[in-house]
Amino acid sequence: MRLQLGSTLVAWLALGGEVVVAEAEVKTETKGVKNVAIIGAGAAGSSAAYYLRQYADEADVKVNITIFEKTDRIGGRTLTVNAYDDARHPIELGASIFVAINHILYNGTRNFNLSTAANYREAGSPDDVTAIWDGSDGSFVYETTDGTAWWWDAGKLWWRYGMSPYRAVNLVKEVVGKFLKLYEGPYFPFRSLTARAYELELLGVTALTGEQFLKLHKIDEAFSRHIIQAATRVNYASNLAYIHGLETMVSFATDGAMSVAGGNWQIFDEMVKTSGAAILRNATVSSIRFAKGKASSSSAPKYEISTSSASAEPELVDTTFDDVIIASPWQFSNIEAGEGVIKHNIEEIPYTKLHVTLFASPFKLHPGFFKLPPGSKAPSNVYTTLAKDEEPKVGADGVGKTGFYSISTLRTAVNPKTDKAEFVYKIFSPKPVTPEFLSDLLGVQVPDTFTDGKTSDVVEPISWYYPHWFYSYPVELPRVTFQDPILGRGLYYTSGIESFISTMETSALMGMNVARLIVDDAAGISRETVPGAVSEEDLLLGRVKLDIVVEEAGEL
Ligand SMILES: Cc1cc2nc3c(=O)[nH]c(=O)nc-3n(C[C@H](O)[C@H](O)[C@H](O)COP(=O)(O)OP(=O)(O)OC[C@H]3O[C@@H](n4cnc5c(N)ncnc54)[C@H](O)[C@@H]3O)c2cc1C
Ligand SMILES: *[C@@H]1O[C@H](CO)[C@@H](O)[C@H](O)[C@H]1NC(C)=O
Ligand SMILES: *[C@@H]1O[C@H](CO)[C@@H](O)[C@H](O)[C@H]1NC(C)=O
Ligand SMILES: *[C@@H]1O[C@H](CO)[C@@H](O)[C@H](O)[C@H]1NC(C)=O
Ligand SMILES: *[C@@H]1O[C@H](CO)[C@@H](O)[C@H](O)[C@H]1NC(C)=O
Repeated sequence: MRLQLGSTLVAWLALGGEVVVAEAEVKTETKGVKNVAIIGAGAAGSSAAYYLRQYADEADVKVNITIFEKTDRIGGRTLTVNAYDDARHPIELGASIFVAINHILYNGTRNFNLSTAANYREAGSPDDVTAIWDGSDGSFVYETTDGTAWWWDAGKLWWRYGMSPYRAVNLVKEVVGKFLKLYEGPYFPFRSLTARAYELELLGVTALTGEQFLKLHKIDEAFSRHIIQAATRVNYASNLAYIHGLETMVSFATDGAMSVAGGNWQIFDEMVKTSGAAILRNATVSSIRFAKGKASSSSAPKYEISTSSASAEPELVDTTFDDVIIASPWQFSNIEAGEGVIKHNIEEIPYTKLHVTLFASPFKLHPGFFKLPPGSKAPSNVYTTLAKDEEPKVGADGVGKTGFYSISTLRTAVNPKTDKAEFVYKIFSPKPVTPEFLSDLLGVQVPDTFTDGKTSDVVEPISWYYPHWFYSYPVELPRVTFQDPILGRGLYYTSGIESFISTMETSALMGMNVARLIVDDAAGISRETVPGAVSEEDLLLGRVKLDIVVEEAGEL
């Protein structure tokens, strides 16, 4: 009881305190324009700009939004490249799918009139075979011809895995249902993701590995390894032993998967346009400092920003900003923060290094690569898992015997040079692919020099080749705290949500959340607290017992 009271008090102070300050500012500030800087035009930054404009207009708050983007495009890790360097064949190089319950992205496609196509990892035509391979010679753990939409079906699997597929589907629904509460009051907006995750009973899901979580819910080991682990590997390059329960559920929540025709980045591009923000391209922010002369402790600070380009010296931007949103993983953004700017230290998070290899070839995947008998049909899409006796490992070593996470046949396309139909492939792997690997995969000799562009009479085994690597997403190890969106007064951060769930939608959700917080503070809007509210301080100081976590883990 005492604990309850204490936490309510702290929560009240945390929320109430800021509201009072904000109200005092309203009188002076609503007359002027609030200058907001957004650093990064990926899903998070674009969404922040879009919702900031919407919320500010609704609340009659004047905002002037400036977006700084290091590259000259919108979308960040959501980007396309053109097969054969031909604009008629755009292919997703980064984030490729989202689902219908992703409200922000889905609304975006409707509001911006973008057409979508059903997409599960861009699987090709209806008679394509999709297989899950554990590296064993001559056999797959799972095969289906339902390649295009839903590549596994609980109904078809009951004979093999009993009730586990149904239990898994229900578990996904339950967990996703809790997550979706984050979009609406009283759970939206949130100042602490850690506290909200606790209040929504999601910390018990993030505290466990996928393996533990599935076992706890009586999901068969074979089903988990064969099917669910194939999903965590293709989505997060991770085995079940090293990814938390929530990301495991997200990997499996692929019902109604889709992508935007021509590229998902268009959603974010439209968001930026609609926001009316000034977008500065090729503008790398190199530092954020308090503006000089405004450092009195009572008034809200203003921030000054410097940008740099490859050639020139860092340049101070003329405008000073009331709010700054950092919408990129801090550790990769190379921004120097002035003294005292970042009140809550940003923890460095290990990210997965993922190689994405796109290429076109007139050859299909070769049955011999999988040691299938001669004359058998090779699958068009291959997801992978570990064999029963393989020790799951973390990071690049976790890939195991197969050496790659997935190979997908994205589509057929006509090679503009030869006018012949070819296949366009995508490989996810922890290391760059080698000519030997590609030779085995296609069953033809791929010369070391296949990318040198020299033409010859023989059929080129690979006619277009595009390798790339990303720090794609965090290594999603179990955890119970998440970097919160508020770094200091008027300073916000979106990427903390990536250790919770790393998707375009969740980054966009954090952008929307931060936009709401800024407008709430500017307009003096206060909000009801959620049932059973806790403060982050209570959680961090151990004043709240993580009952669920302790209980669930204890059963294992
Ligand atoms: C290969 C791959 C596959 C994926 N598949 C999916 C998928 O199918 N579905 C899905 O939902 N998600 C997927 N993801 C994850 C998804 O891409 C990310 O979660 C999401 O795009 C992150 O968006 P963001 O805005 O938070 O960050 P980012 O997209 O990284 O955006 C950050 C932006 O900030 C800019 N920036 C950085 N530093 C500075 C600076 N100093 N100054 C100015 N600008 C700066 C960057 O150039 C970038 O544009 C995938 C990711 C990868 C790499
Ligand atoms: C709005 O921001 C731009 C920088 O993007 C700046 O040049 C302009 O002066 C700002 N307008 C106001 C009214 O502050
Ligand atoms: C999506 O659109 C629906 C219907 O217009 C609306 O009720 C909902 O608030 C929107 N959600 C978001 C996150 O924009
Ligand atoms: C939406 O797109 C369709 C075809 O793609 C077009 O006919 C229609 O006019 C568009 N509507 C708007 C509002 O842009
Ligand atoms: C950004 O830089 C690239 C490469 O230097 C250049 O081609 C492009 O025109 C620049 N874009 C803008 C908007 O400055």
